[in-house]
Amino acid sequence: MAKGKSVWFCSSCGSESAKWLGRCPDCGEWNTFVEEKVTKESKNTSTNRAIFDIKLSKPQLLKEVTFVRENRISMGNREIDRILGGGLVEGSLVLIGGEPGIGKSTLSLQLALNKRGSADNPFNTLYVSGEESCKQIKMRAQRLSNEENNCYVISETLLENIINTARETKPDLLIIDSIQTIYSDTIESSSGSVSQVKECASSLLRFAKEFNTPVIIIGHITKDGSIAGPKILEHIVDVVLQFEGESRGVYRILRSIKNRFGSTSELAVFEMTGNGLREVLNPSEMLIPMHDASLSGVAIAAMLDGTRPFLIEIQALVSTAAYGTPQRSATGFDYRRLNMLLAVLEKRAGFKLASKDVFMNVAGGLKVTDTGCDLAIVTAILSSNFDIIIPSNICFAAEVGLSGEIRPVAQIERRIAEAEKLGFKRIVISSFNKESAFDNHSIEVIQVADIASLCKMLFKG
Ligand code: TYD
Ligand code: MG
Repeated sequence: MAKGKSVWFCSSCGSESAKWLGRCPDCGEWNTFVEEKVTKESKNTSTNRAIFDIKLSKPQLLKEVTFVRENRISMGNREIDRILGGGLVEGSLVLIGGEPGIGKSTLSLQLALNKRGSADNPFNTLYVSGEESCKQIKMRAQRLSNEENNCYVISETLLENIINTARETKPDLLIIDSIQTIYSDTIESSSGSVSQVKECASSLLRFAKEFNTPVIIIGHITKDGSIAGPKILEHIVDVVLQFEGESRGVYRILRSIKNRFGSTSELAVFEMTGNGLREVLNPSEMLIPMHDASLSGVAIAAMLDGTRPFLIEIQALVSTAAYGTPQRSATGFDYRRLNMLLAVLEKRAGFKLASKDVFMNVAGGLKVTDTGCDLAIVTAILSSNFDIIIPSNICFAAEVGLSGEIRPVAQIERRIAEAEKLGFKRIVISSFNKESAFDNHSIEVIQVADIASLCKMLFKG
């Protein structure tokens, strides 16, 4: 490629093209191509080669490949170890993605501070920040922990300097905050652009594999997608952990969405406190208010996130619409699915919701995608509409179909077991769930077939 040549990159998937395209042929997204200047044969390429000292590798017969179980490093944090599949694998590249302000820097610094190793075998972490000065990191670290630590910090944005420093200091863990702020001078485009992000990530990957050092990189997700999001990075890295949650709420979910060394259905819940993130070992207990005074418009859903059962509070408020078009709002839940559930209630159960404002909220600032919450949402709406209190010792786990039928959901046994563990007396599920799934539980299981029988059960006729 000639010096200073323009190349077009898809900002969604990183696909490359010699000219601008309206629609990306790889990922199908529209209007995502951005122009970038790329210089491959620049002055630094030779030094770059020397850094990585590329060797030719010989093909090996598969049966001759010796297999050693990957070495895992426990991070001293049970939840993190669990979602990583038992600890951080040596030489792995881990991406922590999330929206700004969600707590990525806090989490990674906390990991660095907590992992100290022993006196004769210290565990050194190199924390590279392209966003904050060493003073700012120190201020944050003081809030997080006041114990001794082996965390080295540098404020640096040039990739080549970072890798050289890491080669010299040989840390046991390298943390890059964030991939969008660092740049390689072999590429002309500005930091955060698709080609820079790709180049930096693959250089860090080579470093991780060569020195067998785990590398954690932080990546921002922007809503408008104007800078290269971690989507492109997902292909390069070994593990992708996504940080989710309302940044205003206190609960954060860390979810494993790709893991070459473990399961991807793991998730961990954290609470953001004044002293950093705290593990929430039993999320259900935190998310269900233990208030005695029952209120209308509240129902508890036994939901599943990944493979982890949760009980969460669903709140609804139905009031007479003040304007011509009724307002609908859903916080922590898909707005379109709420509209669908309202349409089902309107059509199948004859509720005149078209003249009502409906507001729905998932308590604790969580986002739910499990359709097993449908029944609790429908119940909360009905409860608010008729101002009838749902007893606080009853929970719900079923999907609502378009014809008003109550459909079964996956892993009902685990939901029932979780509800029972938390002291619920009754759980409402679909009548299509097989009885064998719950016959050895002491909790009373109520099965309903459709919205009409749900109403009958809730409001006694
Ligand atoms: P941060 O980790 O900087 O987010 P990110 O790196 O993902 O952009 O911090 C997120 C928020 O957390 C920030 O608004 C301040 C808050 N916070 C606390 O509430 N307690 C704390 O101990 C710390 C360090 C931050
Ligand atoms: Mg940050």
